[in-house]
Order: sequence, then structure tokens, then C-alpha cells
Amino acid sequence: MEIRSAAVIGAGVMGSGIAAHLANAGIPVLLLDIVPAGAADRSTLARSAIDRMLKTEPAPFMHRRNAKLVTPGNLEDDLARLAEADWIVEAVVEDPRVKSELYARIDAVRRPGSIVSSNTSTIPLSKLVEGQGGRFAEDFLITHFFNPPRYMRLLEVVAGERTRPEAVEAVTGFADRSLGKGVVRCKDRPGFIANRIGTFWIQAGINAAFDLGLTVEEADAVAGRPMGVPKTGIFGLVDLVGLDLMPHISRSLLDTLPPDDPYRAIHREPELLRRMIAEGLTGRKGKGGFYRLSREGGARVKEAIDLGTGRYRKTGKPRLDSVEAARGGLRALVEHPDRGGRYARSVLLQTLAYSAALVPEIADTVVAVDEAMRLGYAWKYGPFELIDRLGADWLADALEAEGMAVPPLLRLARGRGFYRVEGGRLQYLATGGDYADVPRPEGVLLLSDVKRGSAPVAKNGSSALWDVGDGVLCLEFTSKMNALDADIMAMIRKAIGLVGDGKGRWKALVVHNEGENFSVGVNLGIALFAVNIGLWPQIEQQVEEGQEVYEALRTAPFPVVAAPSGMALGGGCELLLHCDRVQAHAETYAGLVEVGVGLVPGWGGCKELLTRHWTNRRRPGGPMPPIAAAFETIGTAKVAKSAAEARDLLFLRDGDGITMNRDRLLADAKALALKLAGDYAPPEPVELRLPGPTARLALRLVIEGFLAQGRASGHDAVVAEGLAEVLSGGDTDVTRVLTGADLSALERAVFMHLVREPRTIARIEHMLETGKPLRN
Ligand code: NAI
Repeated sequence: MEIRSAAVIGAGVMGSGIAAHLANAGIPVLLLDIVPAGAADRSTLARSAIDRMLKTEPAPFMHRRNAKLVTPGNLEDDLARLAEADWIVEAVVEDPRVKSELYARIDAVRRPGSIVSSNTSTIPLSKLVEGQGGRFAEDFLITHFFNPPRYMRLLEVVAGERTRPEAVEAVTGFADRSLGKGVVRCKDRPGFIANRIGTFWIQAGINAAFDLGLTVEEADAVAGRPMGVPKTGIFGLVDLVGLDLMPHISRSLLDTLPPDDPYRAIHREPELLRRMIAEGLTGRKGKGGFYRLSREGGARVKEAIDLGTGRYRKTGKPRLDSVEAARGGLRALVEHPDRGGRYARSVLLQTLAYSAALVPEIADTVVAVDEAMRLGYAWKYGPFELIDRLGADWLADALEAEGMAVPPLLRLARGRGFYRVEGGRLQYLATGGDYADVPRPEGVLLLSDVKRGSAPVAKNGSSALWDVGDGVLCLEFTSKMNALDADIMAMIRKAIGLVGDGKGRWKALVVHNEGENFSVGVNLGIALFAVNIGLWPQIEQQVEEGQEVYEALRTAPFPVVAAPSGMALGGGCELLLHCDRVQAHAETYAGLVEVGVGLVPGWGGCKELLTRHWTNRRRPGGPMPPIAAAFETIGTAKVAKSAAEARDLLFLRDGDGITMNRDRLLADAKALALKLAGDYAPPEPVELRLPGPTARLALRLVIEGFLAQGRASGHDAVVAEGLAEVLSGGDTDVTRVLTGADLSALERAVFMHLVREPRTIARIEHMLETGKPLRN
């Protein structure tokens, strides 16, 4: 069965976000909620939820127009329209009675064979289907999304004893391919996987901070990055989800967990927390939480609550030797004698032992648990991967030393660990005691798997080339934040040489990596160093080198496909512009942001974006519209907040693809590259007839307008003038044909002029120090 339409009931936090994400997948969605007493607009709850989402940041919709796919309605007038939906998602208040009554109403109108699922966090499936008609239980399952549904990759799926396997398959397949979710099958147990372990971890973290006398910043500094957890750590995370939610979650767990569950023993509700909730200090949505921002004079000051006195004080930068020691690995952190080390040890010992004791109770495999914690709580490593980092023996010994029970599964892993690589394949320890391959769904190709199973074709300090099969070579960036440097340029040249005419061993090149960001652009640290000591000829040579390498990529006699995910900024975006095709992860954030550091794109970005607008069949006539469009995009450093938005900005073109599931990106890019390789011909050379000074004058008027309105700073205007010079073609007129090489030369000249400007240098310094642009 295929899912082509959906309905979501409940237009609250989760329901509206789920509806938006279903629209992101391109299907029509009916969004229903109750009719509030006396409401003039009977569908106001759904309608205002949609309006609100159009203003929310980060945006629930990948493109504003997706909002049109969501039809607002209400449960009284529009109930019968549920018959249109292949999949009905229930996301109403967490009350079994409300849900149960609603299911009876849904069942009376839905189309036979349509699928119904609940987003419940805590109610067992067995209870939800109690008393429902026979067919209902067959078509019913739990689909537990995480907040916010667009961005959190985990979807926990629970099927009941009577649920039809085809219904599970249909939802799983759709969630994976069309919603981009990592679907994890869970058992019908309290809190499923992620919240069961996550709630325990949070409680253990709060307890240990009180017991060991850590400040909240110290606790988060330890339970954040050093453990591979987002830097919010534990207290920061509670602020984010809301302090008031904690008692609800723990109460529901206490109501449903087995009598001997270790969570019962560690559960506490500190007086401070109770008081904070009562006073409205519920976290980021309230008047503050463990942290808050307050004003002192004109400045914003970050404060944290003192766990001892309950009073706010300025945050201090935690100085813990253990956090430094953590650079040497997780073991160095937990073995460190300071209170940070003891904190890490306490939290990890408890949480990892708890996790190990829960398999196979909550999931069949350790793989499912690890995936749930990575995708649902954004941990870099799941609990069993963490155990392997510490060593299964180390953990078992440490638990014994503390007089804590060693779970049977951990005993089974003694002397070997939970994962191993065998014959180049990643395997996990199954509960029976044998290793089995970590399963990968069909159509999933991970570079990390390729890397585990083979040696690189070539490698240097910032990049590598990999054989991803079927004659496709993959270029991977490996530098910090995948910043671009001379090593990467050399590797691109090497790749072009290796693939040659595309008729030998290699047929095509894919540019892809599994970093958080595809590339944040050129390494500014190196650039600043060169600027500071005035290496102008060397800088110019680097710019020219980059232009040549990117142009060689563009004109190579074989297909080049980029497969980005995350940020593709500056030089990273310019690289996309020079590829034959881009197969972008839906969460790709592309932008030519060079003006933020006082420069214009210098590696062909101006040339390529202008050419795209120039050759865009949908553009209005005359030379000015394409010039103005490229000027606006580059001049205001527009960053697309999704691959769908990147299409509007022409960073992506019609033939480019979008992949919702990151794990499928490389396979999709490879398939596209091989498709192109069939009868490949490189793109035609660029020829533009640009107006020169007249266009430049028109753009200068725009700049002056911005200056007069105070919307541009002095240096903004200088940089924009430079950009205007490049995009108008320099000293030319419409009778002259400009080639790509002419535009590159112009780009380079303007770049070299701007890079010597003291205010550009100040911008680069500021960006390196703060990560934010300076408006000078
Ligand atoms: P919410 O309170 O934001 O939204 C609930 C919606 O249900 C409201 O729009 C309300 O008007 C509607 N509603 C109330 N009574 C109703 C009735 N009798 N019939 C139909 N609709 C009714 O709640 P939220 O947070 O969106 O949660 C919804 C579901 O998702 C719950 O089952 C919750 O456990 C689950 N969930 C919540 C998560 C979160 O982070 N908030 C995460 C994952 C699951």
C-alpha cells in the first residue's frame, strides 16, 4: 500500500509539526482539532497553528508553499473527510479516554484499510486498542515522533499483536523515504526506547549534580560534548523541553514501569525543581530555567541557578581538568579524580548499566537502542557504542567495584564488546551471544561502511577518495568543519586525473561526506594568516588555483555529482555550482556568504550564479533581471534554509534531486552519476553579453538607497560595489561576448582589491573569533 494522503488530528505542538512535515514530503494533509467554545472560525485551532508555523524558527515547513498542502478543519464539520486519508495520525492530548473516544469516531468514517497511528509518548498500545472494533486493531500502530518533527530524525514505531504487517511496512517505508526518518521498531513498553533511557539519564544527571556539588554549567560541560552529547548537556536540555514536563513524564513512567525497575530507585523531585515550576521558571518557554538571559544595563548576561541556594548568578566558565582530559577519550574522563570525572562516572555507570539491562526487554537489538539515542537525543554515540569506547570489561569491573549489578548482556560482551568489524562489515553482538551484521535497508549506502570495509584510493590531511562501487569514486572532505584548503584542491585535481576520460576504471565522481556540514567554505584561519603577513601574490595564486580546479570539475569529461547535507557555504556552495548535478539532502543549507567577511565569491561563484540566472528560461527579458537577482542573492548573503529553498535561489536546478533520508543520499547521488555517465557530454562554454557600466550604475543606485535607509553599513556598500562590478561585466558593453574566463578574471581582481581592505580584514577576524559576521 502506498501513502498518498494523510490526516493529522490534534493541532498542538506535535500534531501541527507532523502535519507540516507530511506536507514537506509532498502529500496533502488534513489537520483537525476540536471546535473551541464560541469560536467564530470553527477551524481556528488548525488554522492558527498553520499561521503560527509560518512564523516559527527554525521553520517546520521546508518551503512556505508547503503550507498550502495542509487543509485546516475541525472534528465536527470535517470528520467525514478522514475517508480521504491513507494514513491518519492522532496527536491529541495524552489522555487514554480522549484518545479512545476519538478512535471510535475515526473508525466510523475512515476508509477500510487506511492506517491509524497514535503519537502517544506513554500510553501502551494494548490499552489504546482496548474495546475498539476488530479491524481497527489490525490497522493501528504507534508512531512516536520527536519534537520538532521536521528536525528530529527518530521515529519510534510500535506494532501491536494484531497490527497488519503491511500497515507497518507502509508506514515504515513512507517514514524512511519520504519523511527522512530513522525508523526504530520498539516494543510496547513504557517510554519505548529513547525516553525510557533518556529520562533515566536526565534523572541520574540531576541527582549526581546535587550529590557531588557541581554547578549546572559544570554538569553540562561534562555531560555535553565530552560524552558526545549536544552542548546543552542535561540541565540545558531540561530547559529546552520544559521543566514542567519532567514530573508528567516521570509520573507516567512510575505508573507503568515494572515494580523492580531501577528508575524507581533513582527517581527524586528536588525541592528546587518543584519551586521553579511553581514560580513559572519552566525553562526557555517560561521566565527562565536552570539558565536565563537577563539584562544588566544594556548588555545581556547569561545566568544560571545555584543548585544550593536556588538564586541566579552570572554563569562562570567551568574549569575542570577532567573536561580537558576528555580529549584523551571517554575513559580518561571517567577515570579523572576531580568532581567532573566523578560526575561523568556516576552518570555513565548508571545509565549504561540500565541500558544494558533493557535489551531484549525494550528492543531486540543493541543496534536499535543506539540508533534511538543517536537520532532521538542527538547523542553522537548510543549507549552500547559508549560501552565499547569504555570497554565492556572496564564497565563490568567498575560496576562490580561499586557493588552494582552487572547486567547479563554486559557479561556476554565481556572480552569482546558490542560491535566488531568482520570482513569489512560492521557487526553487533546479538542477545544469543553471536555476532550478526548490522542491517542496512535496501538503498542505503553509508560512506562510513565503505570506509570500514576498504582502504582509501587516495588520502591527504584534509580529504580522501573512496571506491563506492560500480566505477564511482567518492571525494570526502575530512578537515575540521570540512573547511576547504590546498589539500582539498590537490585532491580534486587528483580525482579528475584518476577518473580521466570516464571510460576506464572510474566512470563518475561523487562529492560527499558524512560530516554535520558539507563544508563551511574556505579555511578562514589560513586565509587570515596569509592576509596578516601580506602574502598578496600567494593569495591571488590560491584564488586562481581554486577557480581553475572548480572549472576543471565543471568541464571534466565525466559526470560530477555533489551530495551535500547541512551547511554548504561560501566555497562549499561554489563547489555545488560547478557540479553537473546536485543530489541534496533535504536539510541542506546553501549560501554564498562571502560578503559577511567583506569579500565576493572568488572561486567562480559570481560567474556561475549569474550564468544560471542568465540562462534561466523563466527569467523576465533584458540583461538587468538576472544581474539584479544574482546581486541580491550574493549581496545579502542569502542562505537557503532547505534544499527546497535552494531551488528558488538557483543553487539547485531542475535536474538536481532532493533526498529526504540522509542515509540514502550517497546511494541516490551514485545512481544519478551513473545515469549521467551513459552518454555524458560536458556543459557548453559560457558566453554572456553584459551591459557593463550602465548596469553598474543601476546597482549603485540600489546601494545608495540602502545606505540612505541605514540598511547597509559603509563597508557593506564598498563590498556591494565590488560585487556590482563583477556582475555587470566590468568594462564592457552588450556588443562584446564575455567568456567564463573573463568573468573569473574580474572576480579575482575584485576579490584581490577587497581582501586588502582593513575593514574586510576586521570582518574575517571577527568571524573567526565569534562565528558571526561584523557589520562595519
Ligand atoms: P498539545 O497540548 O500541544 O496538543 C494537543 C491538542 O489536542 C490540542 O491542540 C488540543 O486542542 C487537542 N485536543 C484536546 N482535547 C481534545 C479532544 N477531546 N479531542 C481532540 N483533540 C483534542 O500536545 P502535544 O505536545 O502536541 O502532544 C500531543 C501528543 O503527542 C500526546 O499524545 C503527547 O504525549 C505526544 N507527544 C508529545 C511530544 C512533545 O514533545 N510535546 C513528543 C512526542 C509525543
